[in-house]
Amino acid sequence: MQVGIAYYNQSDTFISQMIECLKGEFEELEREGLEITVMMRDAAESQRVQDDQVKELIGAGCDVLCVNLVDRADPSEIIDFAREYNVPIIFFNREPVAEDLMQWDKLYYVGADAKQSGIMQGELAAGAIQASRHIDHNKDGKIQYVVLEGEAGHQDSIIRTESAVNTLKEKGIHLEKLSCGIANWNRAQAQNRMMQMIGQHQNQIELVLANNDDMALGALDAYKKLNVTESALPVFFGIDGTDVGLEAVADGRLSATVYNDKEGQSAAIARLAAALMTGKGIHMIQFENKKYIYLPYKKVTDVNVHVYYKKEEEEQKKE
Ligand code: BGC
Ligand code: CA
Repeated sequence: MQVGIAYYNQSDTFISQMIECLKGEFEELEREGLEITVMMRDAAESQRVQDDQVKELIGAGCDVLCVNLVDRADPSEIIDFAREYNVPIIFFNREPVAEDLMQWDKLYYVGADAKQSGIMQGELAAGAIQASRHIDHNKDGKIQYVVLEGEAGHQDSIIRTESAVNTLKEKGIHLEKLSCGIANWNRAQAQNRMMQMIGQHQNQIELVLANNDDMALGALDAYKKLNVTESALPVFFGIDGTDVGLEAVADGRLSATVYNDKEGQSAAIARLAAALMTGKGIHMIQFENKKYIYLPYKKVTDVNVHVYYKKEEEEQKKE
């Protein structure tokens, strides 16, 4: 049996770690006795390239495809081709719109609920603010904040921001938004955006909400570059729990993060792929609306971060 994995960009921190996990899950299936070959393709952010890669993978005889779309609004070429050759697709992480997923009954999606991650980030930030008088540097009773957003059009960007901010408000935190910048999930871009925001607002920024860990770390990089003293730093919140993110939570550079369960998502993808290829066990899988599997997010602070570190170590041991 052959599995094709196509992903939008290898240099994305979360995706590269998730792909490693996914590979590990298929190797695990092999150890359990399934004969599986995995082929992987990086689209380097071009949907045209990915369309061709998918055709190539199907041409090479893949029985099922796992696709992390470049442009989540533009899967039609891939869907048409897969359908013509009757190759099921499990989309992951970048969610196609419902109408596209409805086009054929062999299309699935594995991911996580963006709103939940935003709510958790908001709760974590609210908790930190309520626990420490120092976060409100200028003591005006309001928290001056900025947001670093992921790619425009990504299902996780807008929803994470909205639900984090709404949750903070619901928890009774008075907020003042100073600025907002798109940094496309990317650490270097986040550093640049943050440099601009610091330039505009000097030491007024008290809270940085980032749609992912890499951007939270990019914001930190900006402060480090400017040699801002520890006591003048805002607090930083991320999402993902990537290796670098967890490390930063453990040593206190990030206040907290929200775990994007790449292990759970990878296991769900592999199990579904195996069921689709062998024709066995599909009715054992629980779907939402017949084609969606969402894994829950988890809050991570310095109190429980070691649990997630352990998880990583165990995964590595397995390999
Ligand atoms: C993750 C980001 C990642 C993006 C890629 C999001 O769910 O939180 O870190 O860059 O997916 O699509
Ligand atoms: Ca303030």
